Amino acid sequence: MKIIMLGAPGAGKGTQAQLIADKYGIPHVSTGDIFRANIKNGTELGMEAKKYMDQGLLVPDELTVRILLDRVAKEDCKDGYVLDGFPRTIPQAEVLDQALTERGDRIDFAIDVDAPDENIVKRMSGRRACLACGATFHVEHIPPKQEGICDRCGQELVLRDDDKEETVQKRLDVYHEQTQPLLAYYEKKGVLRTVDGTKTMQEVFAAVTALLG
Ligand code: AP5
Ligand code: MG
Repeated sequence: MKIIMLGAPGAGKGTQAQLIADKYGIPHVSTGDIFRANIKNGTELGMEAKKYMDQGLLVPDELTVRILLDRVAKEDCKDGYVLDGFPRTIPQAEVLDQALTERGDRIDFAIDVDAPDENIVKRMSGRRACLACGATFHVEHIPPKQEGICDRCGQELVLRDDDKEETVQKRLDVYHEQTQPLLAYYEKKGVLRTVDGTKTMQEVFAAVTALLG
């Protein structure tokens, strides 16, 4: 099963993608997590990506597409994956489609986690992220078992550099401009499904699993 998670920054794409990955036994592939792991490890890719991420801007397509195609070509992705944060522009979606078509393959579902901007700004300040495994928590809504420590891998949880209020607003603007057109793109392909992202994490996941079967 090949799934794309769509939705604004903070809508809950990563949270739902992780739940899907665990339930269906497919890898959770997040371009944001790949970039953050590279920043943490001080790689050249990380340094380049950070310039854009810290401003709330998108990393250029050439760089992002290469990273994503390399990742999904790995053995663990051969039976499917859940993409979180990719594609984010029409050109990225076209490159992915072309790569899949060449192998006689296609995306099964593009799930839009729909949440209005007001909900999002509130959520972001409470988010805590694990830069080691990509897990995400919220200090109030989805707290880790032990404060500041990741439930999944035991590493330290941090506030992301791009979760400052003014950067969040910029990311939302970029989303509406460059990423939202993907909803129409996938609707046209007949694979778009929408879930209400303002519900609790469990309710959203129940809606997702009802779609996926
Ligand atoms: P990325 O890491 O993808 O960030 P994003 O799209 O801005 O989305 P977020 O991770 O902020 O939110 P989310 O939807 O995953 O929400 P979450 O589940 O954490 O990208 C970061 C940057 O990398 C980009 O700005 C860009 O620069 C670059 N980049 C990445 N991919 C790129 C690409 N393809 N092209 C170009 N550039 C790219 O949830 C948010 C919070 O709410 C959490 O605290 C969570 O615990 C909580 N929460 C989740 N669900 C619920 C719920 N139902 N109720 C209450 N709280 C909830
Ligand atoms: Mg995320």
